[in-house]
Amino acid sequence: MTNVSPAPKQPQADSSTALYGGKGTRRVTVRDIADAKQRGEKWPMLTAYDAMTASVFDEAGIPVMLVGDSMGNCHLGYESTVPVTMDEMTILSAAVVRGTKRALIVGDLPFGSYQEGAVQALRNATRLVKEAGVGAVKLEGGERSLRQTELLVESGIPVMSHLGLTPQSVHALGGYRVQGRGDEAAHRMLRDAKAAQDAGAFAVVLELVPAELAAEVTRSLEIPTVGIGAGQECDAQVLVWTDMAGMTGGRMPRFVKQYAQLRQTLGDAAKAFAEDVVGGAYPAEEHSFH
Ligand code: KIV
Repeated sequence: MTNVSPAPKQPQADSSTALYGGKGTRRVTVRDIADAKQRGEKWPMLTAYDAMTASVFDEAGIPVMLVGDSMGNCHLGYESTVPVTMDEMTILSAAVVRGTKRALIVGDLPFGSYQEGAVQALRNATRLVKEAGVGAVKLEGGERSLRQTELLVESGIPVMSHLGLTPQSVHALGGYRVQGRGDEAAHRMLRDAKAAQDAGAFAVVLELVPAELAAEVTRSLEIPTVGIGAGQECDAQVLVWTDMAGMTGGRMPRFVKQYAQLRQTLGDAAKAFAEDVVGGAYPAEEHSFH
């Protein structure tokens, strides 16, 4: 890995074309994402797993939503992302598409839905596009998912790659730890990122990657990087929405910033309702019909 000085700041988008805060009302496309990289515009991405939450983020102007296989832990009560099935991904992706008008919706290909090869990847990605209506799919791996990425892109399905900590390989990686440390691992990640770009991916997620390496990958690619625990220099940032909004219980990874405490708020609302019911304060006269 070479030492490089920070890239000069590039001009931001004008207010009409910006991915976030722009005036556009039609669905965001991968072309808009490419234009944002050219302009040096940073953009936000959140996960979403249901129509109602997705509609809130759409109204807030979030331009890209990922129906991540993090739905396994965050929505379906599994221990990890590994058990998520294509049926679950298709149903929840369709709900997110129905709940949104503007955001580009990216559906994750779950573990076991593309590892057999390019044809399996195409069959399952086609399902997400046709049945759920997503505008793009995401899969893990750079060089190891090359054939899959190439065939999907050739078939007209935009692909977002995912490098660094790839949760579907958590058993092989030996846990949730920072990836790309050391020269060899850093070079491998740069190679993977280039391979994804050359295969036609429109963006690359970098998860749990040292900030300096993520910055180097970002500078070396023409397509945008989407960081999660990968420092400030990525073109975009993604967070799992339940982490971002303080809905997830327990300890948070260091890279998470919580912008609300929904778990506390929702719990307080449930308790207030329960106390009103038990104490006879709800329903009151104004909630009753005669
Ligand atoms: O499934 C997911 O939510 C993801 C993000 C963490 C990038 O892959």
